[in-house]
Amino acid sequence: MIILSIETSCDETAVAISRNGRELLSETIFSQGEMHALYGGVVPEIASRNHVAHIGKLASSTLEKAGLVKSQLDAIAVTYAPGLIGALLVGVNFAKGLAMALDIPLIPVHHIMGHIAANYIAYPELEPPFLCAIVSGGNSIIADVRSYTDIGIIGRSRDDAAGECFDKVARLLGLGYPGGAALDELAQRGGDDTVYNLPRPVIDGYPYDMSFSGLKTAVANIVHNGQQRNETLDKASLAASFAAAVSDILVPRIMEAAKEYNRDNIAIAGGVAANTRIQKDLTLAAQAMGKTLYIPPLRLCGDNAAMIACQGYYEYIAGTRASMDLNAYATMPADARYW
Ligand code: KG4
Repeated sequence: MIILSIETSCDETAVAISRNGRELLSETIFSQGEMHALYGGVVPEIASRNHVAHIGKLASSTLEKAGLVKSQLDAIAVTYAPGLIGALLVGVNFAKGLAMALDIPLIPVHHIMGHIAANYIAYPELEPPFLCAIVSGGNSIIADVRSYTDIGIIGRSRDDAAGECFDKVARLLGLGYPGGAALDELAQRGGDDTVYNLPRPVIDGYPYDMSFSGLKTAVANIVHNGQQRNETLDKASLAASFAAAVSDILVPRIMEAAKEYNRDNIAIAGGVAANTRIQKDLTLAAQAMGKTLYIPPLRLCGDNAAMIACQGYYEYIAGTRASMDLNAYATMPADARYW
């Protein structure tokens, strides 16, 4: 079963081809990061226009790299939600055109299900059920992965996503956009996580839900108060204290959920999964509880099309098909499906 997949939910234009889900035959990605860095965040129209300009060439070169021709494709998988609506529409329409021209099935993939599937590519032995935390620029979710196509949301952020918070704090520290990785690196440069006292909010009655926006405000206050008093900020320690606070919000909830839902395997996904502090704390916590931890490699943590091809395969097996009516959706809960 050979699937070509398309991912255009934000500022990466990505195409991949997989065989039977987990075997990646080729992938190409065009990252627009530098273009958006100029504006301190993703500009939706620029993202859409770049997807339009690059998607055709990427699809051709992905086929060429795999040594395949279009007629050898069995299905087209595409991210249809959630994401920037204009960006998603480019991928969805390209996928529709390809599926129609080749007369092969069109498979809609939820972006979050794709992030979870990044783990299937990295770890051939991993199978549901398991617990997964998806922490990216747009989402912070703790999910019970009951099967390849069925998840239950255990906890979520009530406000900002963890990645969004990393990016805003990085901007406050003058680290550019997207700043998560730069903030992580700064924290490693001798940062002391005990220097700044930051909040770890708890939501009454919802033990697995999270809140990150107060943490961002706390960092903003430290930065602005320091500027007013003309104090020199210990940026590395502030970065380390911030990463420690995010990890302290996230990791105990993941471990507690794994215990309550009786899952022996824990996976993490999304761009923030690349964070050094979170990875270290999760590794120690998993060891202490005798759980097996799966952390995808860096290239599979961020947005990519390989994960969409992989999830597309499991959706195909489960009978998921879209018609030419398929639309794109800017928001959609990870456990919902509309097409
Ligand atoms: O999954 P992703 O590539 O895109 C979304 O679907 O959102 O995640 C991007 C997010 C950005 O907010 C970025 O700053 C953050 O992941 N990120 C990190 C690290 N690397 C990327 N955050 C913390 N530490 C990192 N090492």
